[in-house]
Amino acid sequence: MENLEVMSETTGVIGAGTMGNGIAQVAARAGYSVAMCDVQDEFLQRGMNAIDKSLQRDVDKGRLSAEEKAAIIGRIKTTTELGALSDASLVIEAVTEDLNVKTDLFKALDQITSLETILASNTSSISITRLGAATNRPDKVIGMHFMNPVPVMKLVEVIRGIATSNETYERVRSLTEKLGKTALDCNDSPGFVSNRVLMPMINEAIFTLYEGVATRENIDGIVKLGMNHPMGPLELADFIGLDVCLAILNVLYDGFGDPKYRACPLLKRYVDAGWLGRKTGRGFYEY
Ligand SMILES: NC(=O)c1ccc[n+]([C@@H]2O[C@H](COP(=O)([O-])OP(=O)(O)OC[C@H]3O[C@@H](n4cnc5c(N)ncnc54)[C@H](O)[C@@H]3O)[C@@H](O)[C@H]2O)c1
Repeated sequence: MENLEVMSETTGVIGAGTMGNGIAQVAARAGYSVAMCDVQDEFLQRGMNAIDKSLQRDVDKGRLSAEEKAAIIGRIKTTTELGALSDASLVIEAVTEDLNVKTDLFKALDQITSLETILASNTSSISITRLGAATNRPDKVIGMHFMNPVPVMKLVEVIRGIATSNETYERVRSLTEKLGKTALDCNDSPGFVSNRVLMPMINEAIFTLYEGVATRENIDGIVKLGMNHPMGPLELADFIGLDVCLAILNVLYDGFGDPKYRACPLLKRYVDAGWLGRKTGRGFYEY
């Protein structure tokens, strides 16, 4: 049996995609009531199905009882109305990696929620300082960068915008620990630490494929066997989503104005073709 305290506080999660449904799952599993919001019922249903499947794997392995699974799912309410998140003490945004979409959302959340509510973004690269500036509470805006797959990965990279207060950081660090994760903080800078280090490696692997240096299998195999990485960079890019990788590289390129971050033309071509990786059934590999 899991030993947990059921919290009265509601955590809002916006976006029911790859990351949003994972975040909703870990928050509900830690005992929080969760309100998960997306723009269409169909996306919410898909997110709930992913949560069900992920928890069922733990039931099958004897790590969770069927009753606990039902209780976790029972703590997640779904909605297409942003207003349903008005009483949340923390909102974690995990919508599409697009500055305009996120800025509009932060402006709306600033109107809907209490001034005490912390507004966190799971963005992979967008400036937390800019999202904070879209609100009247930049001290309560922070980055909570979960890793994919959220239920498995231990790290939350916590990003402090220029105006994020220490109190906000401490509350988020403590919550991250309650979710069973480890918070490591950094300052706001394009790509933060994780993607500033990871994306140039992925991009360079795509360049080696583009230039015919090796096959996709050998590029991934060399990194896996030679550097002890659990996944090769091309496989990992497919897993993350090629559109997400391209968006992050563009943020690094624009943010630093340094040509070393320019996205490989092959990555752009795949995104133009709609070959976005696992989520569309085709990327560097076929699924
Ligand atoms: N995929 C990864 O590996 C990964 C890892 C870490 C962080 N991130 C970041 O997490 C965020 C989400 O990425 P994802 O991979 O889950 O994307 P996704 O495309 O799987 O899901 C995004 C969801 O947001 C919804 N959405 C878009 N606009 C919305 C709005 N205004 N209100 C409510 N819902 C809205 C979409 O309908 C979709 O269901 C991005 O900022 C991304 O950079 C992704």
